[in-house]
Amino acid sequence: MNTLILARALHVLAVVIWIGGVSMVTVAVLPAVRSGALGSNRFAAFEAIERRFVWIARAAVLVVGATGFYMVARLHSWDRFRAGQFWWMHAMVGVWTVFALILFVIEPLGLHRRVLARAHTTREVPLARMQRVHVVLLAAALVTIAAAVAGSHGWSF
Ligand code: HEM
Repeated sequence: MNTLILARALHVLAVVIWIGGVSMVTVAVLPAVRSGALGSNRFAAFEAIERRFVWIARAAVLVVGATGFYMVARLHSWDRFRAGQFWWMHAMVGVWTVFALILFVIEPLGLHRRVLARAHTTREVPLARMQRVHVVLLAAALVTIAAAVAGSHGWSF
């Protein structure tokens, strides 16, 4: 197996682990936490689950970025970033940048913890907002995945 194929395999594997986790949080964990099914302390319930996944998500984001830029270099495809038909390349880098900022800057600064702490006291509103943000990010990631698979196998949009 050459290193380009290996990079592609790792890229997709890391995307599956990372976006699969986002999907699970969006459609199952957040609704369960919001409904109070995981206990009345919503802050603690969300923290307990999120704490276990955040390092996996960070590692996956690093692997996706490293393998992604490696493939761009190996495929000599930097000029795609100047062509509109390769919007899915911009989408990949865009989705990656947003998640990297959340996982490596916003989350360590404790901003979302403050949102969740408020969720504990004022209940529904901050968690509803957090779920809306998750839905938007998940939708962007899913569109990107579909477009990247189709685009990298020759479909021109
Ligand atoms: C720094 C960010 C990223 C870079 C530089 C990058 C780069 C690349 C490159 C160069 C390819 C191969 C294109 C080709 O064969 O023509 C690719 C494929 C792909 N990427 Fe990314 N990517 C990044 C982030 C992402 C993200 C965030 C996702 C998902 C949300 C993603 C999903 C995919 C998928 C599904 C493929 C198609 C694999 C296949 O079917 O062969 N990538 N990426």
